Amino acid sequence: MAKVLIAGGAGFIGSHTCLVLLEAGHQLVVFDNFSTGSPESLRRVQELTGTAGSDRLRVVEGDIRRPLDLSKAFATGWGRFDAVIHFAGLKAVAQSVHEPLLYWDVNVGGSQHLLAAMAEHGCHTLVFSSSATVYGLPERIPIPETAAVLPINPYGHTKAAVERMLADLAASDGRQAPEGGEPRSGGWRIARLRYFNPVGAHSSGRIGEDPQGPPDNLFPYVSQVALGRRPRLQVFGGDWPTPDGTGIRDYIHVMDLAEGHLATLEALWNEPPQLLTLNLGSGRGYSVLEVVRAFERASDRMVPFDLVARRAGDAAHSVADSSEALRRLGWWARRDLSQMCADGWAWQQRHPQGYRSAG
Ligand code: NAD
Ligand code: UD1
Repeated sequence: MAKVLIAGGAGFIGSHTCLVLLEAGHQLVVFDNFSTGSPESLRRVQELTGTAGSDRLRVVEGDIRRPLDLSKAFATGWGRFDAVIHFAGLKAVAQSVHEPLLYWDVNVGGSQHLLAAMAEHGCHTLVFSSSATVYGLPERIPIPETAAVLPINPYGHTKAAVERMLADLAASDGRQAPEGGEPRSGGWRIARLRYFNPVGAHSSGRIGEDPQGPPDNLFPYVSQVALGRRPRLQVFGGDWPTPDGTGIRDYIHVMDLAEGHLATLEALWNEPPQLLTLNLGSGRGYSVLEVVRAFERASDRMVPFDLVARRAGDAAHSVADSSEALRRLGWWARRDLSQMCADGWAWQQRHPQGYRSAG
């Protein structure tokens, strides 16, 4: 049993990862400022895992930009943490274009403070949420981890900057003794996980994605149209160089992604200190129209749509070469598109207004 600090654990991917880690027997402290995440998601994670009242999941409200808040989190464990998983951050591309300083402050400045707190408290194992967005407009499909990191928006720049910070930290190798001093413990074990398009929900329909306001991303938008909460989907571009003219993406079930975090932790703990960089995707691409049809089948509802102009900054294709994760972790995405739609629909139907819905 390990002790893990989950920064941003109340959000979409974080809550599903907490569930998987609790089921694997670990003890967790979630550190979150609840800016986009919800304490209700954690209450439900405890209920689903039968850990309510067991003290296996503690919650500390705070901001990764505030060293005092971080000190509180590091003092809340059961002694030294065995790892940190860092989900905390902002992820809306369009907002990042309008408020780049906010994104650099939270995503880059916040990460720097979190890393400093880890070093101070003797925790040198980190899993970081990066994104396929670091590849920008990819040169070839599927995209291997060795592809150029050339982001095309401020959000992507902040993810690439943290990736760079982590590479510098890994290269600094804390095992060297400072001049005249004792050798420091350490030897960083760091994973930079580049997620493709996480979607779906836990099969119970009790936890899921809860965007504030109109969703930016395809899946939550489609599910809100199926529900009747929004009248029609706008399909951004029907003239891409793809078989049906709509954009192709690599959708990955959030539970597969969560299990990928557990597999990553186990690899970091069992192997010598390293910097691991992995794509987490399914390796399969689906077009917007294929997603719409799959969602219609899963929900037995219509998803009316209009073909409109391309969205600025979109690429035609984004599909992971996911062979490295299989080789390094023995992990692959097992759940298919119909399950992503069925589980996403179960969550959406039971929670038309997300966590604000009753029940
Ligand atoms: P989310 O918004 O649901 O979760 C982020 C969590 O971080 C929330 O609980 C939020 O309250 C918390 N948070 C934000 N700022 C904070 C701060 N300053 N201090 C403390 N907590 C803070 O998003 P998600 O989809 O779960 O994404 C998690 C991570 O994965 C993010 O770093 C995101 O950039 C990355 N990512 C997400 C996707 C995706 O499509 N969902 C794709 C690639 C990468
Ligand atoms: C977007 C972000 C990416 C981020 C990811 C997080 C942009 C340009 N990219 O990726 O940086 O890491 O979200 O999940 O915002 N689509 C529609 N109608 C919609 C919404 C989307 O047709 O209302 C299309 C898009 O053009 C795209 C596909 O659906 O072809 C998927 O879009 P989306 O879910 O926003 O994901 P990405 O664009 O891959």
